Amino acid sequence: MSYSRNYDVLIVGSGGAGLSLALKLADHSMRVAVLSKFALTAGSTYYAQGGISAVFDEDDSLESHIADTLDAGAGLCNPDIVRLTVTHGKSSIDWLRKQGVVFTEEQTESGEKKLHLNREGGHSHRRVVHTADATGKAVSLSLIERAQEHPNIQLFEHHNVVELITAPSDDPAGKRVTGAYVLDTKKQQVKTIAARVVVLATGGASKVYLYSTNPQSATGDGIALAWRAGCRISNMEFMQFHPTCLYHPQAQSFLISEAVRGEGGKLILPDGSPFMQHFDPRAELAPRDIVARAIDHEIKKRGIDCVYLDISHKSESFIREHFPTIYRQCLKFDIDITKQPIPVVPAAHYTCGGVLTDSYARTDIANLYAIGEVACTGLHGANRMASNSLLECLVFADRANEDILQRIASIPDIPEIPDWDESKVIDSDEEVVVSHNWDELRRFMWDYVGIVRTDKRLSRAMSRVELLKKEINEYYSHFRVTSDLLELRNLAIVAELIIRCAQQRKESRGLHYTLDYPETDNSQPPQNTILKP
Ligand code: FAD
Ligand code: SIN
Repeated sequence: MSYSRNYDVLIVGSGGAGLSLALKLADHSMRVAVLSKFALTAGSTYYAQGGISAVFDEDDSLESHIADTLDAGAGLCNPDIVRLTVTHGKSSIDWLRKQGVVFTEEQTESGEKKLHLNREGGHSHRRVVHTADATGKAVSLSLIERAQEHPNIQLFEHHNVVELITAPSDDPAGKRVTGAYVLDTKKQQVKTIAARVVVLATGGASKVYLYSTNPQSATGDGIALAWRAGCRISNMEFMQFHPTCLYHPQAQSFLISEAVRGEGGKLILPDGSPFMQHFDPRAELAPRDIVARAIDHEIKKRGIDCVYLDISHKSESFIREHFPTIYRQCLKFDIDITKQPIPVVPAAHYTCGGVLTDSYARTDIANLYAIGEVACTGLHGANRMASNSLLECLVFADRANEDILQRIASIPDIPEIPDWDESKVIDSDEEVVVSHNWDELRRFMWDYVGIVRTDKRLSRAMSRVELLKKEINEYYSHFRVTSDLLELRNLAIVAELIIRCAQQRKESRGLHYTLDYPETDNSQPPQNTILKP
């Protein structure tokens, strides 16, 4: 039996970006559908630790936050977007507090309470508003609770977008989005959801790498969906590796927050000697690209499995109060961080590039928006500064809200949409092809397109992607879609986009480092990499 529904706005993604927008639109009587391909907490937002950057400290200033963001972005940030985002820091935190998010406070000498601020790499001041070391969980749970009680929001868990639906139009791209085909993974049924506006809030693509801090959901689906629909994609070479992911055979993707270094955590070699001072005068508090590359260098040079992050010189009560989640998680693996250093390695963490948008989160396709990690707004340039991502989610949810409310009445009705056609496909008899290709893709991306690249490694990776894409497309056209197949198909596209962007950049800049062009090319103005379908 076919299934079809119609909404004002369809938001794909229930992370910080998607739910913030849903709540804002729903308060203006919009009928909103929000999809998550797994549970509502599936995205990266739930796992965010350090916090959200915003200027609250009296000694800090917006100009300083702007300057630090531009500096980390290595010449590729859009200064107008940086200013726009940073100036909305305080109002974004206020909005979250109104949704019920409780942030960590401290008492001033006069006995008043004020927000406690973390310090993280690249920030020249304490500037990171947080809820202990589990900020994302606090944000996620509050937003989910608000959305669940809102009469204008319908939440769909375990619904995975297969493809965006478009119709011809007079808009510059010659088409407009009208909805999406969505796989209900519990019922194994492809549904049609029509909407005047579709918003991609699908998060990043770090699962394209073997080792990642990200949850399972981060397979770059929104980037691949937008690319297939005809949107430009930008700056995919700038994949951010977080310097400190817990290194333990049983610990899957557990992050050790940068706030640990912000509070004095030292990076040391197995013999206990510090090394970051040899790489940057800011040592442990240098921006992420520098710290991750330094660790990668030491690991490869010395043939060691990991380096160590040591915060044990702080008192036990300080550590347990500031880092309760990290303390508990490490203890599960018999690592008592109050007494011993934590084994750490870099892992893929954040997608700085993505679907190219303007300052209202609009993409190249009419009525299609992209917000949060899936988007490339110009805020991060060649390297995102810590804790600027959740801020971007909130600010661009606000910008999209403003634009959608202003435009929605003028969007024409949606034409009849045909049901998803399954008449020519059968159930797969070889699921092993999908799991094998998943592993292969993530491994060669790690080996050839990771922290340190070369032309040769990139072209090796490209030949493998081309083969995989052929195999996947053949599989896709013969067999009924499954969630794993959809993700693999999207990951292969994302891998190709990362490699193509990396191949175009004949220099090292920010997160893109290649042994063939180890210097930054300052002979001409820096350019963003833009791919057109
Ligand atoms: P997400 O929160 O990732 O949500 C994506 C949503 O899209 C999910 O609901 C998912 O199910 C859904 N989705 C994806 N594909 C589909 C599909 N095909 N169909 C249907 N639904 C789909 N940033 C900071 O600023 N501060 C921090 O302290 C911080 N700490 C971090 C710690 C960790 C461990 C990680 C992984 C990231 C951290 N980041 C931090 C980055 C930040 O958390 C993310 O960039 C941000 O949360 C992304 O939010 P989002 O709403 O764009 O996407
Ligand atoms: C962290 O807590 O180190 C993550 C912060 C971020 O990715 O912005």
